[in-house]
Amino acid sequence: MELDQCLEKRASYRTYNDKQVAWEDLISVLNAARLAPSSGNLQNWSFIIVQKQEVREEISKAALNQVWINQAPILIVVCSRMENVKRHYGDRGERLYAIQNCAAAINNILLKTADLGIASCWVNAFDDEAIKRILKIPETVVPQGIITIGYSNERVEKMKRYDLDLLLHFDEWNGKKVEGLFPLKQHSKELKETVLGTKEKGKGFFANFLSRFKKR
Ligand SMILES: Cc1cc2nc3c(=O)[nH]c(=O)nc-3n(C[C@H](O)[C@H](O)[C@H](O)COP(=O)(O)O)c2cc1C
Repeated sequence: MELDQCLEKRASYRTYNDKQVAWEDLISVLNAARLAPSSGNLQNWSFIIVQKQEVREEISKAALNQVWINQAPILIVVCSRMENVKRHYGDRGERLYAIQNCAAAINNILLKTADLGIASCWVNAFDDEAIKRILKIPETVVPQGIITIGYSNERVEKMKRYDLDLLLHFDEWNGKKVEGLFPLKQHSKELKETVLGTKEKGKGFFANFLSRFKKR
C-alpha cells in the first residue's frame, strides 16, 4: 500500500473477531518496529508478544479495566530497556529519548498493521507496576505501550484532525508565512489553500483563531 494511503487508513480498532494473525504477518509487523529510528541507534526496545487468554485478561484489567483489549488475539507490549539510554544520555535519555524511541517503534507497528489490513490500537492507560508484575518485567525495563493486534468487523471512521493551518508557524512562534519562500506550486490546490488560510471555514472559535493566519 502507498504510504499516504496507509497514513489515511490507520485508525484505532477496539473490537476484534476470532481471526488469528498469521505468524509471518506478525513478524513483518515486528520487523517494521525494529526499523524505527532511535537516539544514537540504541534500539532500547523489546517486544513481549502476549497470546495466552488468561494473560490478556489480566492485562486488560491492569489497563484500567479496558475489557475490549482481551478480545484481540495478540498484544504486543513494547518495553524500554532503560540502562543503556541512561548511561549514554543521562537524565534526558531516561526522561525523553527512551520514550520517544519506543513511540517511533510503536508508530511503525501501527502503520505496518494498517498496511497489512490488520486492526490495531495503541493503549497506554495502564498501571505500570501491575503490567510489570504480570509479565515479569525486570526492574530496569519500563513498559511503554500495549498494542492490540487482530482483525475487526468494524468500519472505523478516520478521527478528525486539525487543519494544517492551525498547526503551522513560520520562522517563529505565531510567525506569518512570507509569500514566495514556500514552494507551494508543487502542492495540491487544497493544501495550498489550507496553508494560505484561504480555504472556506466555518464561523466560531476556529474561524477566529484562523483569522490570525489569513492573508499574510
Ligand atoms: C500515547 C497514547 C495512548 C493511548 N492510550 C489509549 C488507551 O489507553 N485506550 C484507548 O482506547 N486508546 C488509546 N489511544 C488511542 C487514541 O485514543 C487514538 O489514537 C486517538 O483517539 C486518535 O484516533 P485514531 O488512532 O483512530 O486516529 C492512545 C494513543 C496514544 C498515542
